[in-house]
Amino acid sequence: MIFGFRPPGLAAWLFPRMKRTVQLIGVGLLVALIALQFVPVPRNAGPAEGPQSIAAREEVPAGVRQILARACYDCHSNQTNYPWYAAVQPVGWWLNDHVAEGKGELNFSEFATYSTKRAVRKLRSTADEVRDRHMPLKSYLLMHGEAKLTDADVTRLATWAEDLADEIESR
Ligand code: HEC
Repeated sequence: MIFGFRPPGLAAWLFPRMKRTVQLIGVGLLVALIALQFVPVPRNAGPAEGPQSIAAREEVPAGVRQILARACYDCHSNQTNYPWYAAVQPVGWWLNDHVAEGKGELNFSEFATYSTKRAVRKLRSTADEVRDRHMPLKSYLLMHGEAKLTDADVTRLATWAEDLADEIESR
């Protein structure tokens, strides 16, 4: 007590006007959040276009390749360009979840390992997903304006995907 002023505890200082238990829970959560920042997060940092990639095996015109790299590779290849906030947990884990799920469905870096049936199915669904504007994911577009597809991009990507599917099927 100094001149009638009592230094408040950390909890009371951070969360004034709250019940003591609520204050302690707040401090506990804050400490946990800080501790989380020190847990290493694995990164998707392989080559996007290695020897098993779609570009290494199939005909992918430069224009289409650019669209894939700009709008799809972050979640559908072995290489993600992480935004700065990926270093903040738990945001980074949430992003990695999307990447793992996206790669599980379709990985352009491993496309050459797919069976004919799977390759054809994935190309046809690529055409459908971009035409329906389901891909790239809306939550991703909010933070990645550069990944937005124009109508011309959609037509180009979808037409290429369908033509390639037909070609692979007829081999
Ligand atoms: C932010 C991450 C992200 C981006 C960017 C993204 N996708 Fe996806 N994609 C996913 C996730 C997650 C799934 C699985 C869940 C779902 O379908 O919503 C998926 C599913 C798919 C599927 C379905 C596969 C199947 O077998 O049905 C296709 C095809 C696809 N994406 C193509 C694309 C294409 C093409 C692009 C670029 C134009 C793209 N995606 C961009 C995350 C992403």
